[in-house]
Amino acid sequence: MRHYLQFKDFRAEEYAYLFERAAIIKKRFKNYEKYQPLADRTLAMIFEKASTRTRVSFEAGMYQMGGSVVHLTTGDSQLGRAEPIEDSARVISRMVDIVMIRTFEQSKIERFAAHSRVPVINGLTNEYHPCQILADLFTFIEQRGMDRRGAVDMDCLKGRVVAWVGDGNNMANTWLQAAEILGFTVHVSTPSGYEIDPQVAGVKNADCYKVFKDPLDACRGADLVTTDVWTSMGYEAENEARRAAFADWCVDAEMMALAKPDALFMHCLPAHRGEEVSAEVIDGPQSVVWDEAENRMHVQKALMEYLLIGRIG
Ligand code: CP
Ligand code: NVA
Repeated sequence: MRHYLQFKDFRAEEYAYLFERAAIIKKRFKNYEKYQPLADRTLAMIFEKASTRTRVSFEAGMYQMGGSVVHLTTGDSQLGRAEPIEDSARVISRMVDIVMIRTFEQSKIERFAAHSRVPVINGLTNEYHPCQILADLFTFIEQRGMDRRGAVDMDCLKGRVVAWVGDGNNMANTWLQAAEILGFTVHVSTPSGYEIDPQVAGVKNADCYKVFKDPLDACRGADLVTTDVWTSMGYEAENEARRAAFADWCVDAEMMALAKPDALFMHCLPAHRGEEVSAEVIDGPQSVVWDEAENRMHVQKALMEYLLIGRIG
C-alpha cells in the first residue's frame, strides 16, 4: 500500500506513468466515454481548510470513475471535538478505500497515514500541495511535451526554468521537490522573512533551485512564471504585515516580458488580481490557469487509479 503525502513519495518513472494515464483518462472524459474502474470504491475527503478546486476535482473525479465520496469537515465531524487523529484514521480507513486530507501541519497527515489501512492523499498541508504540482506539470507537458496522440515526453521538463515569485510556502516547497526529481530548476524570489526553508521543503540537491532578491531577476529567461496568494490559509493573522512585505511581488507584464517569449503563467488559484498577479497577466494569452485547474481532476483520477488498482497494462 502506498500513500501520497508529498511529491517525493513517487519516483520520476512513476510520474511518467501517471502523466500517460492522465492523458488517456482526460481524453476519455472529453469523448464522453464511460470509464469506471473504481466502481464500489469509496473516497473519504477530510477538509480542515476551505476548498473549491480540490473538493470538486476529487468528488467529480471519483463519481466519474464509478465510486462514491464521503465529505467530512472539522466542524461537522468529531475531528473538531478533539478525537485523536490516530483514532479517526483507524475508524475511517475501515470503512472506505482511500482518503484525501486537507489540513494544517504535515505531521497530522503523517500520523493519519501511519494508522490508516488504506492509501492517504495530501490535498494540501501547510508544508506541501503535491496534487497541485502534479496538475501543473501535466499542464506544462500538454503545452510543451505531448504529441497529438497523447504520448508524453518527460524530457520536455529537463533543464527548464520555473520562476517562483512570492511566498516560500507549500506550493514553493513542492515545486522544489518536483525540480529535484524531474530535473529542472526553480528560480525563487520571496520577500525577506518569507524565504524557503530547504529543510522543510525536503530537498537535498542545492542545484534544484536558485534564490534571487529581485523578482525581476528570477523571471529572466524563465519557461514558466508562477505565484500564489500572499497569505495562505492558516496565516490570516499575518495578513497586514504580508500585504506590506509582498507589495513588489506581483507578477505583471514587466516580469513576463523578462521571461522567455513563449513562457507560460500558472497560479494554483484562488487568485487576487492586483496583489500577487495583475489582471493583464492572469487573464492574458500566456496564462494557462483554467487548464491547470481542470487538470487537477484528470491527474487525481490517474493518481487514485494508481493507488487503488496499480498499473494498468
Ligand atoms: N488550488 C487549490 O487547491 O484550490 P482550492 O483551495 O479551491 O481547493
Ligand atoms: N498556498 C495556498 C494555496 C491554496 C490552494 C494556501 O495554502 O492557502
